[in-house]
Amino acid sequence: MSEPQPIHLSDYRPPAYRVTHTELTFDLAPSATRVKARLHVERHPERQAGEPLMLDGEQLALKAIAIDGQPLGEDEYALTEGGLTVHRVPEAFRLDTEVEIAPEANTALEGLYQSNGMYCTQCEAEGFRRITFYPDRPDVMATFSTTVIGDAEREPVLLSNGNPVERGELPGGRHFVTWEDPYPKPCYLFALVAGDLKKVEDSVTTRSGRDVTLQIWVEEENLDKTDHAMASLKRAMRWDEKTYGREYDLDLFMIVAVNDFNMGAMENKGLNIFNSAAVLTHPHTATDAAFQRVEGIVAHEYFHNWSGNRVTCRDWFQLSLKEGFTVFRDQCFSADTNSAPVKRIEEVAFFRTAQFAEDAGPTAHPVRPDHYIEIGNFYTLTIYEKGAEIVRMLCNLVGWEAFRRGSDRYFERFDGQAVTIEDFVGCMAEASGLDLTQFMRWYSQAGTPEIDAHGEYDYANAAYRLVLRQRTPATPGQPDKQPLHIPIRLGLVGTKSRRDLALTLDGEALGSDAVIHLCDEEQEFLFTDVSEAPVPSLLRGFSAPVKLHFPYAREDLAFLQAHDSDGFNRWDAGQRLALLALDDLIAAHRNGVEKVMDPRVVEAFRGLLTLEADDKAVLAEMLTLPSEAYIAEQQPLVDVDAIHAARTFVKQSLAMALRDDFLRVFEANQSEAPYSPEPEQIATRSLKNVALSYLVSIEDEAGIALAREQFEADHNMTDVRQALTLLVHSSREDLADPALRVFGEKWAHDPLVMDQWFSIQVTRPHSDALDRVKFLMDHPAFSLTNPNKVRALIGAFTGQNPVNFHRLDGEGYRLLADTVIELNRLNPEIAARLVTPLTRWARFDETRQALMKAELERIRAETLSPNVYEVVEKALA
Ligand code: PHE
Ligand code: ZN
Repeated sequence: MSEPQPIHLSDYRPPAYRVTHTELTFDLAPSATRVKARLHVERHPERQAGEPLMLDGEQLALKAIAIDGQPLGEDEYALTEGGLTVHRVPEAFRLDTEVEIAPEANTALEGLYQSNGMYCTQCEAEGFRRITFYPDRPDVMATFSTTVIGDAEREPVLLSNGNPVERGELPGGRHFVTWEDPYPKPCYLFALVAGDLKKVEDSVTTRSGRDVTLQIWVEEENLDKTDHAMASLKRAMRWDEKTYGREYDLDLFMIVAVNDFNMGAMENKGLNIFNSAAVLTHPHTATDAAFQRVEGIVAHEYFHNWSGNRVTCRDWFQLSLKEGFTVFRDQCFSADTNSAPVKRIEEVAFFRTAQFAEDAGPTAHPVRPDHYIEIGNFYTLTIYEKGAEIVRMLCNLVGWEAFRRGSDRYFERFDGQAVTIEDFVGCMAEASGLDLTQFMRWYSQAGTPEIDAHGEYDYANAAYRLVLRQRTPATPGQPDKQPLHIPIRLGLVGTKSRRDLALTLDGEALGSDAVIHLCDEEQEFLFTDVSEAPVPSLLRGFSAPVKLHFPYAREDLAFLQAHDSDGFNRWDAGQRLALLALDDLIAAHRNGVEKVMDPRVVEAFRGLLTLEADDKAVLAEMLTLPSEAYIAEQQPLVDVDAIHAARTFVKQSLAMALRDDFLRVFEANQSEAPYSPEPEQIATRSLKNVALSYLVSIEDEAGIALAREQFEADHNMTDVRQALTLLVHSSREDLADPALRVFGEKWAHDPLVMDQWFSIQVTRPHSDALDRVKFLMDHPAFSLTNPNKVRALIGAFTGQNPVNFHRLDGEGYRLLADTVIELNRLNPEIAARLVTPLTRWARFDETRQALMKAELERIRAETLSPNVYEVVEKALA
């Protein structure tokens, strides 16, 4: 078998033919669905006449083919592995094809498949070619007219994009509905759903007076889990009108929940399809985090209607054009509806852990990659989250007003088109008059830039000199990097006044909170009229996705944590302080020296707990120690055991020193109020639950009793899950097992709750975790063909249980490799994602490196999907 070959951005050409209108008829059957396609095709004006027509197609059984009504002879076309070529076609013509496909056998969940008996589609990025022969590329945009024929009893509901225009009965107990989508779209935005679904309906009137019907379609037992998604959708629609001037453009907007889905959700035109985990919530089944995630994803998919659908990507290299922008839009929406500083803290904590790791590993790639083997592997944190950070920097650079003007220009100029990242940034440059040439490097250079900073206060001249030096490490295929344009928001906090000092740079007064621009490799900034010695507060709000090193004394960090005017940097100072203490303890653990807690950390925490000046949501974040994964990210070589021991030691030391404070905070934030996912309630719960985690960490009797009570009170899933997790992760087996049993029996019928039940068990930091994973893989609620289950069990174990995944006997690695090998056949996209932890072998000691590489080699010896092949090759390169 030939090795999969990469495709390159530099090879882009417009398609030889475009499709102006697409008519589809689906006659549904689990093992033999018939798809008739009538494509209205014309030659692309920029391409020569006489080129063959090449259509993509995979796993399709061709039954008929005709051009302008004339069936083609066998010598007039050729079927290949990846599609179909018609050797000679007219300038403009009608192509009719009929194919047969088998949705019930589709475990890859790309194309048309079945989930719990219902039919649904997933076409992004290249799934449509598993439905019919088509130019499956985003720069071919057509209007669609789709007829779905199904069994009137089994599939009473037949949905597709746009508006329903006709329906009727057919012989043999069948019926049909025809849908028309008037907006030209690439085929990756096509969708079809058919099944026995129930709906919740609502409506809104847009700013210009269009009445829009909103529907959420679910299985009957989930009808009581749609309120929050519906409310979120309505908020998102309003927000996009108010903030971006964008209105919805059809009479109907539908969301469908499906159990088997590779990703979070999909923005198909007028018919968003959601992983049920990304849409269903109920106070008793979903945590606060899940409620917030649902709100964010519902908004994200809705926002794509403009940033993605009305204006789409020319080719898949431009994926971040729609994803980075849309993530930025959903982040701002969530910040506006919740606690903005906490939203930013959560984003950055996640980003610096997961995206930094990706950018430092063998699969590192630019936000706009220049080649790939399998586009499915590029739905990454880099494309999404780093892409969003770039758009955020752009917005901050040009200012909101110019950004909004640029955005209007972008949507107006490119409406109905498939465009590039240059087109987007070009609009921002025009709207602001700024030169963004150097800034564009953010899109082409992979790797996390590092900034080494130092500064001195000059008493005699009342000046502060800040020196910044940037470098971006080499990444695969990119040995040398150019300096980037890095916006750094900063303040100088006076050590006496404890206030932000006025900033004067090169004679210009900048206020007390300003942005400086690091564009050269090294730059010096001299602030004058600095009346007292300051501590610099750098990279406020995480103004650029970089690692910033500054030689802070621990006292300085404690000072910033207490006095910085920027909430984000107050949190970050605390994290930095904790990291320094953790470094010492990691070293102590490795050297077999007795661990001693840094009293400055204890005092900083005491200050937080006693002042309680902060908003509760921020305080809860400040009291949360950096995760083991984030600590690992900071270490030159990851020692999972030392990290776990050090973090546990810090946590327990704080709990012992501040037990009464934690207890007081817990009690002060108990509430009997009926559950609501409002920011104030969420803040209160977070604070209470952080306090509880400290109390249980030392197995304090009062703390254990409170956790048990909270579990038994069964007030809402946030509290129940936290209590259960603390009990299960404690070493009190006598408490863990009964609680797990009660919970597992109670929720056996609810797949989304069972996912949580799986995750809680396999993330417990005790030596039986791996056996539990194996045992639970045979549990009736587990299934390897359901991505949520795979993530809840295998993904949670490998990603959130470092001490057990990295067992020195290699059993954790073996389990992962076995699963990847099996999933490679069933669902290549999920298999390729799951393998990630093994690709990070270079971060570990030699013994583990060897074990991890051996498992990668074992995977490589299999017949691999392009997805897994690409990742494994990079990991072993
Ligand atoms: N485009 C989807 C989103 O960003 C993600 C997705 C990609 C879903 C590929 C399915 C398949 O919301
Ligand atoms: Zn998206």
